[in-house]
Amino acid sequence: YKLLFHKKISQELSHTPYGGVVPELASRLHAKALPKILEEVKEFLPHIKAVAVTTHPGLSVTLLEGVMMAKALHLALDIPLIGVNHLVGHIYSLFIEKEVLFPLDVLLVSGGHTMILKAKDLEEIELIASTLDDSFGESFDKVAKMMGLGYPGGPIIEKLAQEGDSERFKFPIPLKNSKKLAFSFSGLKNAVRLKIEELSPLSYQDKCDISASFQKSAIEHLLQKSKKAVASKKLAIVGGASANLKLRERFKEEFDILTTKLEFCSDNAAMIGRVGVELYKRGRFTPLEELKATPKNGFT
Ligand code: KG4
Ligand code: ZN
Repeated sequence: YKLLFHKKISQELSHTPYGGVVPELASRLHAKALPKILEEVKEFLPHIKAVAVTTHPGLSVTLLEGVMMAKALHLALDIPLIGVNHLVGHIYSLFIEKEVLFPLDVLLVSGGHTMILKAKDLEEIELIASTLDDSFGESFDKVAKMMGLGYPGGPIIEKLAQEGDSERFKFPIPLKNSKKLAFSFSGLKNAVRLKIEELSPLSYQDKCDISASFQKSAIEHLLQKSKKAVASKKLAIVGGASANLKLRERFKEEFDILTTKLEFCSDNAAMIGRVGVELYKRGRFTPLEELKATPKNGFT
């Protein structure tokens, strides 16, 4: 297999003024983007053997649009359908240009999830730890919003943090004294909120220092729990927030990390296609009447 064509039509800038994804807007933008992509891949259509599509977890309206498009292709081209789990997709982002390599301990950090997983096979993934409240990426989005910096917060906070002093504020490291194998970001987020209220109006340097200090606590929390949960020296890190270079740098001090190219960290179709290839090889197709968007499902 080989990646023949890949394109990402990002909506991020459209959601920036709102400080988060607005479902209605996301849906309308998908309705515009999907036919546009289809037009660009026209030349490949006669050669396509199957169509893979994300069914869960995710935002209901946008999952539905993808599923509808996949069903139309299935009927028009008479090719099988393959429903793909978004989280499995993030794991397979590691293998877009490589052979699959299991077993693997995985830290998944995105806008919707923060998890440690033990992946033994495509269909054998065990959840070791997850978050009690916000996700890692979401906490960056919320902190950015509190400082009026826009969406998505991850890259913005990371950039400001480069010019900031991470020692200026001593934000708590979540669940530091707890044996629990779990993540939590809401307490840290609230500590940041209080500091912002205390200092407002914020100078540019305040914003950089808050970003750096917050990022440091958030990453230390990930690292502490990862060390507790993972016995192996090898750790894969995937998901939108795995693009964070500070996170990669810090984890490298404790683990041999496995990551994907920056362009494949955040949500993309190549990772879904990669899972599609594996399921295709196993003949694991999804009948039309069984293919449904199930936004809230996890690994089922
Ligand atoms: O995987 P993804 O594209 O979408 C979900 O499945 O949620 O992840 C998006 C999340 C957003 O919360 C975004 O702020 C975060 O990943 N993110 C980052 C960075 N780049 C993206 N978080 C921290 N540092 C980054 N450099
Ligand atoms: Zn994702």
